[in-house]
Amino acid sequence: MFKRLFGINEWKIIEDDIHIQDMRLSESIMSIGNGYMGMRGNFEEKYSGDMHLGTYIGGVWFPDKTRVGWWKNGYPEYFGKVINSANFTGIDVRINDFEIDLAKNEVLEFYRELDMKSAVLYRCFIVNTPYGRVKVRTERFLSINQPELCAIKYMVCSLDNDAAVTLTPYMNGDVHNEDSNYQEKFWEEVSRSSKPLEASLIMRTKENPFGAPRFTSCTSMRIMPYGAVQACHSRQSHNFVASKIVFEAKKGQWAGIDKFVALTTTRRLKEEELENRAAELAAGAALAGYDRLKQLHCEAWNTRWDKADVEIVGDTEAQQGIRFNIFQLFSTYYGEDCTLNFGPKGFTGEKYGGATYWDTEAFVFPMYLAIAAEEVTRNLLIYRHSQLEGAFENARRIGMRGALYPMVTFTGVECHNEWEITFEEIHRNAAIAFAIFQYVSYTGDKSYIAQYGIDVLLEISRFWASRVHYSQRRKMYMIHGVTGPNEYENNVSNNWYTNRMAAWCLEYTLDCIAYLREINETEKLEEHSLTLSEEENWREIARNMYLPYDDELEVFVQHDTFLDKELRPAVEIPAEERPINQHWSWDRILRSCYIKQADVLQGLYFLGHLYDRETKKKNFMFYEPMTVHESSLSPCVHSIIAAELGIEDKAVEMYRRTARLDLDNYNNDTEDGLHITSMGGSWLAIVQGFAGMRTAGGKLEFNPFLPEGWESYSFKVNYRGRRLKICVGSGKTAITLEQGEPLNITLKGEELLLKEEIKCVI
Ligand code: BGC
Repeated sequence: MFKRLFGINEWKIIEDDIHIQDMRLSESIMSIGNGYMGMRGNFEEKYSGDMHLGTYIGGVWFPDKTRVGWWKNGYPEYFGKVINSANFTGIDVRINDFEIDLAKNEVLEFYRELDMKSAVLYRCFIVNTPYGRVKVRTERFLSINQPELCAIKYMVCSLDNDAAVTLTPYMNGDVHNEDSNYQEKFWEEVSRSSKPLEASLIMRTKENPFGAPRFTSCTSMRIMPYGAVQACHSRQSHNFVASKIVFEAKKGQWAGIDKFVALTTTRRLKEEELENRAAELAAGAALAGYDRLKQLHCEAWNTRWDKADVEIVGDTEAQQGIRFNIFQLFSTYYGEDCTLNFGPKGFTGEKYGGATYWDTEAFVFPMYLAIAAEEVTRNLLIYRHSQLEGAFENARRIGMRGALYPMVTFTGVECHNEWEITFEEIHRNAAIAFAIFQYVSYTGDKSYIAQYGIDVLLEISRFWASRVHYSQRRKMYMIHGVTGPNEYENNVSNNWYTNRMAAWCLEYTLDCIAYLREINETEKLEEHSLTLSEEENWREIARNMYLPYDDELEVFVQHDTFLDKELRPAVEIPAEERPINQHWSWDRILRSCYIKQADVLQGLYFLGHLYDRETKKKNFMFYEPMTVHESSLSPCVHSIIAAELGIEDKAVEMYRRTARLDLDNYNNDTEDGLHITSMGGSWLAIVQGFAGMRTAGGKLEFNPFLPEGWESYSFKVNYRGRRLKICVGSGKTAITLEQGEPLNITLKGEELLLKEEIKCVI
């Protein structure tokens, strides 16, 4: 099942027709962001058709009261939501007395383009009006040099007659979230001011009874008109400020404005500084001018691409897919603000919003290890370290010890309330510990363990030790009542993945404790009151964890009763019933054998260095056919394992599905927003999958193959102070040391010293 509305191009996403029926899908795809804020590809001018207005600011959220019919003890009191900020892109347009509204007007031509290389969104359209044809051109970007800044160019031309063109650029704080309880709104006005060509609007989030922070934001705009301006006025009303500019437009001449908006918030500034700072930024932008700001923005994006582009020659669809993924990830998070994180939908939708999930550690972290500066991933780990208090609270609430990291959070405190996830999807805790392991083995920076890592590892281990129970019958430790990564089953017992990762966490923590003793850094162990008997208990649990295995099939068993299900391959599901989560009752899904995303295979992916090829193959061949990949996080893991097993066509099929998941709307849900965190998986599918990069043993290894039909692909990685460029072509691989000291690497099983460039025939 896929739907493709956009043209294939290496650097651009092109829509050359207006898709009224799929406006939400187009808006998601045309999203832009700069880490500080981001927005869906909404039109500036009025659009009265079905659409989803969305502009979001990193880390600005609201604790919406949890409302459920049947309250369960242990539920969080609120659901944290990323909230729509004031709409500051809006520009109403009138031609004489006729209002431009593409949902109602006759649209003669329409073109929208997202240029990923320079991160600018363009639009051009022609509509028919009672006064003849009118052409509009727009551009906008969110600056990465000055992240508080949005710049918009909006130009109108009456093609057939002279006309009065009225542009009303505005900022509107009266916005709502589609997912709020009973349409409640989250902002209230603090103050507003307006002059003919400038205005400010200050909004504050409403009071909440949960002690969660309130945010104040100020949007300030400056308008630079060009063309024959006849009159300018300011307008304001509750929650709303605008300028109204009337142009005497001659037939065939352009009239237009540059709109500069600066948005400041109390996340970074004191409340009393907001207005001046925003006004200053907007005025500075107007002074510098649109073209200069755009040029600086494009140069900064070019520098990003120089470091991280993945080039695929011979397959433009695949090329566009990976660039779209890298582009959207960088638009969400580039590591400048270490109090932020990756929301699964970034700034492109409300569902999952800007909250932090295990997705970060499991799917994005390994990519950023290789393409970002070391501090970026270190900061991502410190982000979790700084939320330990919240993780203690989450464990306490469900009667456990130690730290339970949340499934969904802004502060560390769990803010998701579905019992099967909040209470049961506890495997998330292991991903936090695993990221520490990945960081240390990739960077070699062991100082992190003593400084921060051990605090997190000890408390995660404490959690697992309190959550297991001992089965007298089997004489083994078990974990009952969980949901594994496969959310299409709940309340299962002994989910292999959860048990295995819990045991791994205990083992790794014990290794780190031993290391700290070796280097005589034991203060933290004392601070956490670690006793020898507790350590012994962890060792005992790790050694005797029950890990379900079937001797006949020679596979790990997803959970205790999985093999008693009716096991059928997913290809038997009729196409019109896919995705099953949109066609089947939840009850039917839960009873079926169909797997939403890698579960046992997720474990074999993470712990790939501990399992042999045969084991991986048996499990892959058993589980993949039952997997429906209805989580965006699924195909990438399968692609990587398939590549390792030499099942190249499957690896490529799964790569395509992950890299073009949103562009081709595979899961029929892109209208809700993009699958930002799974985009890390596309990069992993190329680098860990096709190029076979491995680092777990503290050594850099590659084992590349070239997908059929591709002429070559290349990418860059940072590794322990070096920068490497890897280029895989037909029959040969070239690895170049672009920066740093010589390094021993393994290529196709052969140990080599990388000095400048190695070319290897494969
Ligand atoms: C997946 C989870 C994931 C969440 C957010 C769900 O559909 O099953 O593993 O954390 O989406 O991406």
